[in-house]
Amino acid sequence: MAEDFPEEGKDPDELMEKISKAENRDMKFSSGRIFGSMCTEPLRISKEIYSRFIETNLGNPGLYRGTAELEKEVHDAVGSLIHADDAESLSLGGGTEGNIIALWRAREKTGKRKVILPESAHFSFEKACSLLDMKPEYIPLREDQTVDVDVLEKKIDEDTAAVVSIAGTTEHGAVDPIEKIAPLTDDVHFHVDAAFGGFVIPFLRDRYAQLPDLDFQIEGVDSIILDPHKMGISPVPLGLFYSREDEGLTIDSPYLTGDGQKSLRGTRASASIPAFWTTLNHLGKEGYRDIVSRCMENTYYTVSKMKEIGFEPIVEPTLNIASFEHDEPLKIIGEMEERDWNISRTVKPTGLRFVIMPHVRRENIDRVVEELSKWK
Ligand SMILES: Cc1ncc(COP(=O)(O)O)c(C=O)c1O
Repeated sequence: MAEDFPEEGKDPDELMEKISKAENRDMKFSSGRIFGSMCTEPLRISKEIYSRFIETNLGNPGLYRGTAELEKEVHDAVGSLIHADDAESLSLGGGTEGNIIALWRAREKTGKRKVILPESAHFSFEKACSLLDMKPEYIPLREDQTVDVDVLEKKIDEDTAAVVSIAGTTEHGAVDPIEKIAPLTDDVHFHVDAAFGGFVIPFLRDRYAQLPDLDFQIEGVDSIILDPHKMGISPVPLGLFYSREDEGLTIDSPYLTGDGQKSLRGTRASASIPAFWTTLNHLGKEGYRDIVSRCMENTYYTVSKMKEIGFEPIVEPTLNIASFEHDEPLKIIGEMEERDWNISRTVKPTGLRFVIMPHVRRENIDRVVEELSKWK
C-alpha cells in the first residue's frame, strides 16, 4: 500500500530499521555477484571523502571554492592521460550527459542534423537524437564488432553534423579504429565515446600494445567523454567531457555564482569530485595499471572457464567485457537473478554479457560458471 507523507516525524531508530531492510535488499559489488554493471565498488578512502562533501554543488561554484579547485586538478590530471592540453573540460553526470552535449554542440556548430553512429552505439545517443531532433544513421559492424569504416565513409555527406566512434562498446568492449575515422571527419564534429574504455585503454596500452589510440593526439577528434564512475573506480555520478575547442554554449546563471553553466544539470551533486580526486591520487597510473591488468586476466579466465562448459565467445575480448553466444539470454538471466546473480545480455547477436570489473574475483567467476553449467 502506498504510504502518505507522514504527518509527524518518526523516531530515528524506527527509520533506521526500515532503511537497513531496504539496504539489505540492494545488491552490493562487494558480494562479487554483479557481472552486469559497468560500475564498481569505490575505494574505502573515497567513500569517506564522499560523505564529507555531501553538501557540495558545483552548479553554484562560488560557494565551493575548495571543491572547484579539486575539480580543476581532476580535469588536468585526466586531461593529461588523453593529451587534452588546452581542451575545455566539464564534469558531468556520466556518459549519457556527455553524449547529449556532444551532439548538441555538433548541431549548433554545423546547423545540421544527421548523426553517423556505429550499430554498437550506446542507447544514450537515441535519447540525444530524440531530444535534439537529430537523425541517427547506424553503420553496420564488422565481425570483430568494430564499425565498418568503408560503409561509414560513404555515409558522410553535406547533411552530416557528427560522426561518433566508440572506444569500448557497451556490449562487447570493442574499440573502433578512431585513427582511420578521424581523417574522414574534416567538416563534421567527431565525438569519441570512451565512457567505458577511457579508463582502460590508457592503462593497458603499455602492456597490450595492439590497442588503438583514442585521444586528442589524433587530429580530427573534437570531443571525448570518459566516465570515472566506470573503470575510473569513482563513486557515481561522474563523467568527464573534453572538447578540443571551447564551443561556447554557456547559459547565463544570473542568480548563482560562477560564469554560467555548460552542463545539462543545474544543481549538481559534486561529492564524487573530491572522492575521485582522492582515488586517482591514491592509485596513480601504477595502481590503475595493476587493477586493469587484473581485470583483463580475469576476463581471459572467464572466457576459458565458459569455453570449458560449452559457451562460445562472440568475440575475443579487447577490454574487460566477455560475451557469449546464446539464443535465449533472458531466460538464463531471469533464473540467475532468482539466485541473486546479476549477469547481462547482448542484443546483437544475442548472448550473455559479463563485465569483469575490479570487484569481480576469481572465486566469483568459478561460482557463476558452475551455476551456468546447468544450462549446457
Ligand atoms: C559506451 C557507453 N557510453 C555511454 C554510456 C552511458 O553512461 P551513463 O549510464 O553513465 O550515462 C554507457 C553506459 O553503459 C556506455 O557503455
